[in-house]
Amino acid sequence: MKFFIDTANFDEIKEAHAWGILSGVTTNPSLVAKEPGVDFHDRLREIANLVDGSVSGEVISLDAEGMIREGEELAAIHPNITVKLPMTPAGLQACRHFANKGIKTNVTLIFSANQALMAARAGATYVSPFIGRLDDIGQDGSELIETIAHMFTIHNIDTEIIAASIRHPQHIQAAALAGAHISTTPFKVLQQLFNHPLTDKGIEGFLADWSKREGK
Ligand code: E4P
Repeated sequence: MKFFIDTANFDEIKEAHAWGILSGVTTNPSLVAKEPGVDFHDRLREIANLVDGSVSGEVISLDAEGMIREGEELAAIHPNITVKLPMTPAGLQACRHFANKGIKTNVTLIFSANQALMAARAGATYVSPFIGRLDDIGQDGSELIETIAHMFTIHNIDTEIIAASIRHPQHIQAAALAGAHISTTPFKVLQQLFNHPLTDKGIEGFLADWSKREGK
């Protein structure tokens, strides 16, 4: 499973990129709204120039024509831009349009396997099931990932599954084991993945021993 980061904050992207683990970035209108004074297109360009991988920018129109217009503008920013579209009839219509033109798409707000299958058949490069939001309403988000992965394998579908709406480290492990190709993760959760008390204790012990070595 590859790591994408789910943020529009450039400092967070720069730091996670420096760790050498990033394969892409996803943004959404709520995340962009957290960056006051930032021009959306400029920020996507900045990100795409840094990270060598898919950078999702989401449309806000609700009709297919508007989505296509916005998506064309986003795709013109950089070859790595992926047009993020909602799981609606208009979203899938726009998805088919972009797939026919060879432009990458990420169909977002997926909450069922049937939605994922429809998006894949509309030519989606990626589908984004939201596991945290499903868990929030008492459904099993990881189980949905497993079902979609199984369905895509049976039918030889090459659309990649992005496990989205990640809330904690356990979601990452569960998504990887359930067959997600990618997880898109908030910076805070990526940081948490480093943590283990035995790692800290081990470093402390090594440094203490080193400082006591003979002849020092
Ligand atoms: C996916 O691409 C979305 O940006 C995201 O993961 C939404 O997560 P949330 O439920 O934390 O808003």
